[in-house]
Amino acid sequence: MSSQNVTTIHIETGTPYDVVLGSGIFDDFGPAFTRVCPHAHTVAIVTDDMVARFYFTRMQKILKAQNLRCIHVIFPHGEAQKNIATWEHILRVFADNNLTRSDAVVALGGGVVGDMAGFAAASYMRGIDVVQVPTSLLADVDSSVGGKTAVDLPEGKNLVGAFWQPKLVWADVDCLDTLAHDFQIDGMGEVLKCGVLQGGRLFELAQKNRTEDRLELISACIRLKDHYVSEDEKESGARRFLNLGHTFGHAIETLSEFTITHGKCVAIGLILMARACEAKGIAVPGTTRRIHDAVENIGLPTKTTFGPDEIVEAARHDKKSSDTHITVVLIEDIGKCSLKTITFDELSELAHAALS
Ligand SMILES: NC(=O)c1ccc[n+]([C@@H]2O[C@H](COP(=O)([O-])OP(=O)(O)OC[C@H]3O[C@@H](n4cnc5c(N)ncnc54)[C@H](O)[C@@H]3O)[C@@H](O)[C@H]2O)c1
Ligand SMILES: [Zn+2]
Repeated sequence: MSSQNVTTIHIETGTPYDVVLGSGIFDDFGPAFTRVCPHAHTVAIVTDDMVARFYFTRMQKILKAQNLRCIHVIFPHGEAQKNIATWEHILRVFADNNLTRSDAVVALGGGVVGDMAGFAAASYMRGIDVVQVPTSLLADVDSSVGGKTAVDLPEGKNLVGAFWQPKLVWADVDCLDTLAHDFQIDGMGEVLKCGVLQGGRLFELAQKNRTEDRLELISACIRLKDHYVSEDEKESGARRFLNLGHTFGHAIETLSEFTITHGKCVAIGLILMARACEAKGIAVPGTTRRIHDAVENIGLPTKTTFGPDEIVEAARHDKKSSDTHITVVLIEDIGKCSLKTITFDELSELAHAALS
């Protein structure tokens, strides 16, 4: 390979696969693709118009050099496109172009493309191979790994989907050079979440947010996700640690009607949970200040205008909670978190402690 900076992380799910992460590896994708999808004759490149501007022609050339027939779906960028209509359009392009069960999909883009293309692959002919080529920070550290795929309904985000593991994840961090600053920052919300979960060097590097550390940071986040996902592929136990910052964060995202993006909400959610835990004597004194300073340093928001009661009400409708209880990730210290299933009255106490 042309680059020295390559890390391979083996993900041990029911159907194991590699995440290959590096700088300057984009153009080496062809042979890696044919190794994991040896029977594919046709590849469907699924991407959005923004990503296509930078990477579609390049990807097409790489795959054609492997003697593969390429078809493509390029849909308009943005979360609003992550819907049933786009999903149907993708499936119909597959069918119109006679994509077969032995062919494969390349998901080239951020989390929206990864989720949509992944779900199209999971459902077309009851499931065909997909390879994830993430191009956003959020897709690198979160959405391309773990096998969750989804589309949104008007009734809620990610309500329709499937667990469908990719055959390979091929992540060139140089793609982040073309990603808009706001999306870089937003992805850092999840990176910081990993930092709070793991502590130590990951937290230190996350709060510094330096370009020269991004390979190390991203690979540490993927390893952390792998640690929880391989233990718990379908999210009934340990994987729930990855919801750190998401109970309050997701509630804020919903209350804002998705005008505040996910990573920003997670950052606020981390601070709120830390403050609640500190007020209840669960977290080491000073934990909130450390997380607050990291959030501020990255350039993510630290405050919300929503009140504790509306936040708890929104959390009650979260698909991750039951009628009476919700499992939250408590922060005891940077690098030490715990899962606890609590009632909504207890959640309300935490929310009031965080926002009083
Ligand atoms: N499946 C999972 O486990 C999982 C986990 C977390 C989030 N998600 C989903 O991920 C989505 C968010 O992902 P996202 O933040 O990547 O959003 P996104 O896919 O919309 O990408 C953000 C924007 O950046 C553009 N873009 C992406 N890569 C680029 C690049 N290299 N250069 C220039 N522009 C680029 C996109 O066109 C888009 O406009 C949400 O739908 C969320 O539900 C899924
Ligand atoms: Zn998240």
